[in-house]
Amino acid sequence: MPSSTTTQPTAQIGVTGLAVMGSNLARNFARHGHTVAVHNRTYAKTKALVDEHGHEGTFVPAESAEEFVAALQKPRRIVVMVKAGEPTDAVIDEFTPLLDEGDVIIDGGNAHFHDTLRREKALRDKGIHFVGTGISGGEEGALNGPAIMPGGSAESYKSLGPLLESIAAKAPDGTPCCTHIGPDAAGHFVKMVHNGIEYADMQLIAEAYDLLRTVAGFGPARIAEVFRGWNSGRLNSYLIEITAEVLAHTDAASGRPFVDVVADEAEQKGTGRWTVQTALDLGVPVSGIAEAVFARSLSGHRELRDAARTLPGPAAAPLDAEEAEAFAARVEEALYASKLVSYAQGWNMIAAASAEYGWDIDLGAVAAIWRGGCIIRAAFLDRIRAAFAADPSLPTLLADEGFADEVGRAQDAWRDVVATAVRRGVPTPGFSAALAYYDALRAERLPAALTQGQRDFFGAHTYRRTDREGSFHTLWGGDRSEQDVS
Ligand code: 6PG
Repeated sequence: MPSSTTTQPTAQIGVTGLAVMGSNLARNFARHGHTVAVHNRTYAKTKALVDEHGHEGTFVPAESAEEFVAALQKPRRIVVMVKAGEPTDAVIDEFTPLLDEGDVIIDGGNAHFHDTLRREKALRDKGIHFVGTGISGGEEGALNGPAIMPGGSAESYKSLGPLLESIAAKAPDGTPCCTHIGPDAAGHFVKMVHNGIEYADMQLIAEAYDLLRTVAGFGPARIAEVFRGWNSGRLNSYLIEITAEVLAHTDAASGRPFVDVVADEAEQKGTGRWTVQTALDLGVPVSGIAEAVFARSLSGHRELRDAARTLPGPAAAPLDAEEAEAFAARVEEALYASKLVSYAQGWNMIAAASAEYGWDIDLGAVAAIWRGGCIIRAAFLDRIRAAFAADPSLPTLLADEGFADEVGRAQDAWRDVVATAVRRGVPTPGFSAALAYYDALRAERLPAALTQGQRDFFGAHTYRRTDREGSFHTLWGGDRSEQDVS
C-alpha cells in the first residue's frame, strides 16, 4: 500500500492541535462536508478524534507534520489550534519549511495582535499567508458555529473565506458570522476587543445582580426571573441568558444557590487586560473595560479585602416590595445605558487601531458578525450594524439618533441607580464609570482646562487658547504675562 505521502492530497483544510477547541473545529469542518487532515503533537489524540467522531465526516489522520502537509490540497490551509505564545511559534517553525508559496497558516488562538503582526510579516517575506483569526463561542461554538474574525491578506481570504463561512454561526438574518476583518493582525485585534467588551458586559451584569440582591433584596432565583424577563427585551443576549441559568442553579452538595457557594474571586486569562493596555497605547478611553478588568483583579486581592472588612459603610433601610420592583426597572435602564457606553468605547478603539495600522475595518461588519456565535452575541448588535450602515463615520455610537434617544430616556434612572449604589455602599464601578463617560462627553466645558494651566505652571508645558490659534506659556514665576510660543 502506498504511503499517504505519495497519494493524491484530498484534504481541503487541516487542523493541528487537537485539544477541545481544535478537535471541535475539525469536526465542524468535517460535518460541513470538508475533508479535514488532522494532526496533533501526540498521535493518541488524533486517533481518539477519528475513532470517536470519524463517522461525522471525512478525516485524514496524520502521524507526522510531513504526512499532514502531504494530505492537503494546494493552496494548503492549516489551522493552528495550540496554546497562544511559544507553542504557536514552535508549530509555525515546524511547518514553514514544508510549505510552498501561497499556502496559508491560520492561527485560531487568542494571540496578542503584536505577535500576529510579527508572524505575518515573517511569513509574508517567505510567500506564505499568515491569517491571525479570532474565534469566539467557546467549545460549543467551535463545534456548532463560532463567530470567526480572520485577518491576513485579502488574497488568502479568497480561498479560505468560503471554508470559514461554511462553519461559522449564522446571524438571525442567515448571513455567516465571518468576514475578512482586514490585513495582518486586524482579526486578532478585533477578537481582543470582543473579549474586552465581554469583560465589560459581564461586570455590568454582575453589578446589576448585586444591586438587585443588596438593594432590592431579591434572592438568586428571583433575580434569575428578572434576567429572563430582560432577555426578552432590548437586553436580549447570550450573556443575559446564561446569567439567568447560573442564578437559577442550586448546588447539589449543599442545597444552596450555586452563586453563594462559588468563591467570589474572578479570574482572567488576559485578553481583557491586553485590551486595556492597548487602549492606553492608542489613547482611547475604554473606562468600562478597564473597570471590569480592575474589578476582577480587586476581587482576587483577598488580603486587601480582609484588611478592609471592618471599614464603616452606610446604614440603609431595605426597600419595600413596590420600591424594589420600581428599582429593578431602573437597574435595567442603567444596565442598558452602561452597556451602550462600553460598546461605544470598544468601537472607538477598533476605529482608532484601524486608522493607526491602516486596516480599513468596516465597523458595521464587525457588529454584523458578532450577532451570532460569539460570547457577546446580542439582538442589540444589529442596531450597531444599522447605525454604522447609516453613517460609516459615526464618531461614537452615543451620537446615533436611536441610541442617543434611548440613553437620554434612561439617564434619570441611570443616575438614580448610581446615586442609590453610592448612598448604600454597593460598588458599581462599571455603571459609575459609564455614567461619568457619558457626562464627560456631553459636557460643554471640561476641567481639562485647569489641568492644562497646572501643567503650564509647573512644567511650562504650554496650552492652547479658546479664542485664537497657537501655543502659549504664562510666566508664572515672573510677571504672569503670556508668551506666544507657537
Ligand atoms: C470567546 C471567549 C474566549 C474565552 C475567554 C475568556 O470569545 O469564546 O472570549 O476567548 O472564554 O478567553 O477569558 P477569561 O478567562 O480571561 O475570562
